[in-house]
Amino acid sequence: MTLEFTLTRNAEPVADDVRAGVLAEPGFGKHFTDHMVSIDWTADGGWHDARIEPYGPLQMDPASAVLHYGQEIFEGMKAYRRDDGSVWTFRPDQNAKRLQRSAARLALPQLPEELFLEAIRRLVEVDEAWVPDGGEDSLYLRPFMIANEVFLGVRAAQTVRFMVIASPAGPYFAGGVKPVSIWLSREYNRAGKGGTGAAKCGGNYAASLLPTQLAVANGCAQVLFLNEEGTDLEELGGMNVVLVKADGTLITPDSDTILDGVTRNSLLQLAADEGHAVERRPVTLAEWRDGVADGTITEAFACGTAAVLTPIAALRSPDETIGDPDAPAGPVALALRKALTDIQYGRAEDPHGWMVQL
Ligand code: COI
Repeated sequence: MTLEFTLTRNAEPVADDVRAGVLAEPGFGKHFTDHMVSIDWTADGGWHDARIEPYGPLQMDPASAVLHYGQEIFEGMKAYRRDDGSVWTFRPDQNAKRLQRSAARLALPQLPEELFLEAIRRLVEVDEAWVPDGGEDSLYLRPFMIANEVFLGVRAAQTVRFMVIASPAGPYFAGGVKPVSIWLSREYNRAGKGGTGAAKCGGNYAASLLPTQLAVANGCAQVLFLNEEGTDLEELGGMNVVLVKADGTLITPDSDTILDGVTRNSLLQLAADEGHAVERRPVTLAEWRDGVADGTITEAFACGTAAVLTPIAALRSPDETIGDPDAPAGPVALALRKALTDIQYGRAEDPHGWMVQL
């Protein structure tokens, strides 16, 4: 299914010199492009009114369902500029499909994959000047869907809006690829069995904020959540976790309470292509602790669209430190990071056909 998109150009776009200043030092999630996509949905009329409009505040009724019950989902993806000036995105079909899975869990409507892809393509086309070039910067794309029905009864909304906004992005962590320390959350869980842990919904991230404050107060960049039993690794506040063994095996939690990360899946595929064994299975905290102590676990890293791949130097809690907070980035993490970003920026072949030109 496709719809005609109407375009209303921003009559007051950001001045060229201001945009150039933003692109020179974008940070993460702080600056937004000149336009945004909106598509409305009603239970009786389906998807309609696809449009690209000037970026700006939404006017919302204070009784809109999303403001009360958090019926909301989102995605994270990036557009990359190559040396020849062309602009590409990475596995957008995977984001479209995950948005559909998240929508099913949050009782939101299914957005057809072609409509999702067309929305991305049209926004990047109109705001192409905002795609950074050089280094590892990109245009971060944030598709999201909100329940905007004006109704305080607790049931699935009959009126919904899908939107896409875009934001020039540098590294998610201020230190770039520098290894980070992670704080182990003992008091708080992120998700439980049958909950929304596998969906990319705002509530999961809201639940991570207090534990993340504790992490930051303890000098760590992110929090690691365990399962409800407190035995197995789940994921970090906003990214997946992978451990690397001395024999090159990659191990990562397999659980239906964590996000099925597109970046993680891609890194694991690239690792398998290079001959690494890959194990998706429950991973216990004890395995990490013992493996670091006896030298069988040599690296750990965080991965996600925003974070790309960030090495983890140490896991810390009041009781113990697993790893060395001053450890440099490990060779497996660095090689995988390079393999992925080389494909994304067109510096290497794309053996799986992941890149889509916009
Ligand atoms: C992403 O990696 O794209 C996310 O949505 C996670 C968030 C921490 C920015």
